[in-house]
Amino acid sequence: MALTLHSMQSSLARPTRPKDPNGIAHGSRSGGTAAQTKADRVVTKAAYTNWELGKELSNYHFDKSIKDTEAFQLCGRFVGDWEDELEKAYETMETVTWGNRWDKKGLSKKSDPRGVLKENELKDIIDAGGDPEQPMYHGTRDIGPQMQQMIDILGMENPRHKLHIQLTGESVAMHLDKHYEAEEKDDDKEVRRFLIALADWEPGQFIVFGNQICERWIAGSILTFEWKDMPHGTANASLHKRPLLSVVGYVTETTQDLLCKERTWTLVNGKR
Ligand SMILES: [Fe+2]
Repeated sequence: MALTLHSMQSSLARPTRPKDPNGIAHGSRSGGTAAQTKADRVVTKAAYTNWELGKELSNYHFDKSIKDTEAFQLCGRFVGDWEDELEKAYETMETVTWGNRWDKKGLSKKSDPRGVLKENELKDIIDAGGDPEQPMYHGTRDIGPQMQQMIDILGMENPRHKLHIQLTGESVAMHLDKHYEAEEKDDDKEVRRFLIALADWEPGQFIVFGNQICERWIAGSILTFEWKDMPHGTANASLHKRPLLSVVGYVTETTQDLLCKERTWTLVNGKR
């Protein structure tokens, strides 16, 4: 009986799902031993997976026996009242999936050293048996003055921001970030990513950096991590929204200072 492939398989220029008859796991070589066939399959699968290619470009150890303790850094906290700004953001947020996230940026054909970004990401999700159209989170760039103040205090050059609002049941599978578009503009400058918690942590919400669980954050907490090296994922199994403000930009002296000194920034009506 013919198997029904995921609808996205037909648009991917690659072997189909490993479990399908014409997928990688069933591919055979002409001649050679069974061991050679198995080796070929491993090589072929590695060549088509974003995760494996990402590992080659990362300095992370990818060793589960090593318990990470410094996979992310807490670098201060904002104190203020951005509830109204969040409520407005909830009105404009849109569903983001692995299947549509590059389309939304107009980068569905965008390539990096790992190949076509969109295709490579979809491969991992589909090959794992996941649904590339399952919501990862809800996104919007609609921020107010308090959130803008946070971005200003980070002091980055050319900051880009986005609200990552994860609703109940949404998850982002483990992956490595790709902010090459920022690096392409200036190789000499350090590109850093900050995540600012906009609400207190709730049981059932988590972010994983490497193999370290990040939890129990409080509203205003500022996190950063080595986005190029550190695999990460998130999920929300709570009954509360999980809003984060993501900011990516070039590090300046102001940013560097903030990284070194953990401090609290009080925001009052959008002013420090
Ligand atoms: Fe990410």
